[in-house]
Amino acid sequence: MMKSTVVKPMAAMPSPMTSVDLMMCPNAPSANPKTIPTRKGVADGLFRASKMHESYHCQAMPAPPPPSAADVALGLRSVGYLPGDSTALVAFLAVRLGKPVLVEGPAGVGKTELAKALSRYLGRELVRLQCYEGLDEAKALYEWNYRKQLLRIQSEADGTGWDRVQDDIFGEEFLLARPLLTAISSAEPVVLLIDEIDKTDQEFEAMLLEVLSDFQISIPELGPVHARTHPVVLLTSNNSRELTEALKRRCLYLWLDYPELEHELEIVRLHAPELPQTVGRRLVEVIGMVRDLDLKKPPSIAESIDWARALVLLGVQDIDSQTFAETMSLIVKHRTDLDVVAERIGLELGDRVAASVGGAGPEGDGPGLSI
Ligand SMILES: Nc1ncnc2c1ncn2[C@@H]1O[C@H](COP(=O)(O)OP(=O)(O)OP(=O)(O)O)[C@@H](O)[C@H]1O
Ligand SMILES: [Mg+2]
Repeated sequence: MMKSTVVKPMAAMPSPMTSVDLMMCPNAPSANPKTIPTRKGVADGLFRASKMHESYHCQAMPAPPPPSAADVALGLRSVGYLPGDSTALVAFLAVRLGKPVLVEGPAGVGKTELAKALSRYLGRELVRLQCYEGLDEAKALYEWNYRKQLLRIQSEADGTGWDRVQDDIFGEEFLLARPLLTAISSAEPVVLLIDEIDKTDQEFEAMLLEVLSDFQISIPELGPVHARTHPVVLLTSNNSRELTEALKRRCLYLWLDYPELEHELEIVRLHAPELPQTVGRRLVEVIGMVRDLDLKKPPSIAESIDWARALVLLGVQDIDSQTFAETMSLIVKHRTDLDVVAERIGLELGDRVAASVGGAGPEGDGPGLSI
C-alpha cells in the first residue's frame, strides 16, 4: 500500500519540454521520450571519454547513495514517480548492492518510467537500449566503423604493411559504442535501461550475462573493457516469453502490477491535476471493474491517465453511462473487449444513474461501484 504523503500534483507533474531541454537532459519526462544516441569513443584506460556525448548529460549533480528505501520513495516522488513500497525497496537495494533489477509486469504499469525516474532522482544520465526481435551485438554493444576503416586503408601509402594498417584500424577511433558499451565505459555512473528484454532471443540474453555479472565487455581485437563506474541497471519485460534462469539469477526481481485503487487515484491526479476528485475516484473504480472482466487487454495506468486527461478536456463532471459509452475506446482497444465492456459496465453505470434518479443511490464520493 502507498504511504499517505501526497506530492503536490502541479509541482511534481512532468512538464512539457523544449528541444533544448531534451538536449540538456534527455531523462526528464516528455511526451515523446527518446532513446539517447550512442557516442563514439569510450573510456576505460584503453578509451577516452567522448566529448561528443557531453551535451546529453543531465545537468543535475549525481546524488549521493540513498541511505534508506524511504529516501528512495521520497526521491522518486519528488521527480514525479509514485512508487509502491516494494518498488522503493528494490530500487534502494539495486543502487546499494549494485545489482541489476528485472522489472516484470503487464503493459503500461510504469516499468520504463521507473528507470527514467531513477535517472532523474539520482541525477544520472539514462542510457537506453530498446530491445526488439533480431537485436544483435552490433546494435547493443559496439561495432567497427567499416566505412572509416576502409577510407583509412585506402589513404595509406602503397607498400604500407598490413600489420601496421591492422593495428591502426582496430583502435578506439574506429569503434562505434552502442548503449551497453556506452553505459559501462562512462566516466560518470549512469542508469542503464534495457527495455523489453523479452523481445530478444536467448542468444542475446546469454551475451548480456557477461555485462550484468562482470560489468565488462570483451572486444576480441582490444581485450576486455571493464566498467569504470557501476551503472544502475534495469531490465524490463512484459512476460511475452520466459527469461532464462541464468539471467534471473543475476538480477533482483520486481513485479509491477496494476496498482490498488488509492495508489492509482494518486497517480492519475498527478498526471491530470485538473480532474475533479469525485470524477477521479469514479474513474479508478470503473477502471478496476473493467480489469476484473475477462478481457484480451485490460486497461493499464497509461490508459487511466489518458482517460483522465480526456475527461478534463471534455469538462466531464461525472462518469455516467453516456460519458462512458462515448469515451470507453480510450481504455479498451480490442473490438471484442469493447462489446464485453459496453454490455457489462455500461449496464452497471446505467443502473447506477437510474437508481440515483430514483433517490436510492449515492452520487459523487459515494461507495465504490461493483458488478
Ligand atoms: N508509479 C507511477 N507514478 C507516476 N506515473 C506512473 C506510475 N506508473 C505508471 N505511470 C505512468 O504510466 C504511464 C505508463 O508507464 P510506462 O510507459 O513506464 O509503462 P510500461 O510498464 O513500461 O509499459 P510497456 O510495457 O507498455 O512498455 C507513463 O505515463 C507513466 O508516467
Ligand atoms: Mg515500457
